[in-house]
Amino acid sequence: MTMDRYVITGKQSLEGSVRVSGAKNSSLPLLAATLLADGTSVLMDIPDLLDITHMVEVLATLGCRVQRDEEALVVDASTLNGAEVDETLMRKMRASNLILGPILARTGRVRIARPGGCAIGSRPMDQHIKGLMELGVKVKERHGYIEAWYDRLQGGDIYFDVPSVGATENIMMAAVLADGYTVIHNAAREPEIVDLQNLLNKMGAKIRGGGTDVIRIEGVRKLTAAEHRVIPDRIEAGTHMVAAVMTEGDVRVDNVIPEHLEGVIAKLRQAGAEITLEDDAVRVRQRGRIKPVDLKTMAYPGFPTDMQPQFMAMLAMAGGTSVITETIFENRYQHVDELRRMGANITVDGRTAVVRGVETLEGAFVEATDLRAGAALFLAALAAEEATVLEQVGHIDRGYENLEEKYRGLGARLRRVLPNSSELARIDT
Ligand code: UD1
Repeated sequence: MTMDRYVITGKQSLEGSVRVSGAKNSSLPLLAATLLADGTSVLMDIPDLLDITHMVEVLATLGCRVQRDEEALVVDASTLNGAEVDETLMRKMRASNLILGPILARTGRVRIARPGGCAIGSRPMDQHIKGLMELGVKVKERHGYIEAWYDRLQGGDIYFDVPSVGATENIMMAAVLADGYTVIHNAAREPEIVDLQNLLNKMGAKIRGGGTDVIRIEGVRKLTAAEHRVIPDRIEAGTHMVAAVMTEGDVRVDNVIPEHLEGVIAKLRQAGAEITLEDDAVRVRQRGRIKPVDLKTMAYPGFPTDMQPQFMAMLAMAGGTSVITETIFENRYQHVDELRRMGANITVDGRTAVVRGVETLEGAFVEATDLRAGAALFLAALAAEEATVLEQVGHIDRGYENLEEKYRGLGARLRRVLPNSSELARIDT
């Protein structure tokens, strides 16, 4: 991972417009879904991100030919010749576990290194495995690997204990080629699930109910390759919206599906932001002090856990006290210590954080510990007095395309520097 740093000079009010890239969290399952067809799929608007590069590496290891042309990522899965992914690749990105379902359905067996935990929590796989077993899959875990195979892949009735996004996607991608019907109860309802359903149905699958908590799948014998444009990234959009508020700016965020951001928009309005919705854009303006708001992360359509760190950065500057409750991941407060270095007043007790707003944040040396924690610190730096040096920006590269360019375009003062660069010596924070 790159050791680059951002040097950000805060207190520039952001103005202008910024275009949101295709959704990372949709692109990953869509890329996995291309494994299901014996042909060449074309996916448009896939962002150029580190996580995507890792998924492409996984597909290549399995024998697929992947090419990026101007607008599209082209995946030829007709040359698929593998069913194994080792730990070097698995450790780079947890979401590579999304190949479990499609590889099984296409080849009848799969062997992948068990993904480790990550900075934000332990991240179990029990729901993925339980769901697959319900479809007649046999699963064995040994030496840190998950091995799965079946004699016959058959439809089943699955009830998730928690509405896991990844497990819902994995089961959808296995059940499309199973014999008979599958029903997934307590399915995750995220927009990325609907995007996956849309691609799979274009490929010839018969899926209904994506976006609700019951998904019904009628297995088909074969899928054919298709063309699809990925939905816009709602977390990237939300991050830009918070940036506008924190810098008392006026920003138009383009390529947005406002319905995907209802929770975020509601909370920003409560915080005092003026938000105007258009068909595929939102305009965010902020004047004066941010108001405190309480929030609790929940599965979609609740408030997204992937926006919790950014909101904490914002509420750290509010004119009052906010209470944040994180219910999805047990260890998603790693940005707290770093925000404190910037002058924030935050206390954490278990899954609850009490954020007492301060007048101003101050620039400091801080470090990104994971993707969204990094985003939160990036935002805090934009709003802080004087300069911030944000280290380990490789974490941010996993999820934000052309961040530097996009924020320069909005009037932010930032640059990316290599570690040990002499430029750092000139920074007086
Ligand atoms: C996806 C997103 C991630 C987001 C998360 C929650 C992708 C690539 N990543 O991750 O950015 O933060 O949704 O919105 O789409 N769980 C279990 N057993 C399982 C699986 C999950 O108990 O087998 C639990 C998890 O510990 C967590 C909750 O379910 O508490 C939600 O996790 P899940 O929806 O599976 O997250 P991911 O799909 O990994």
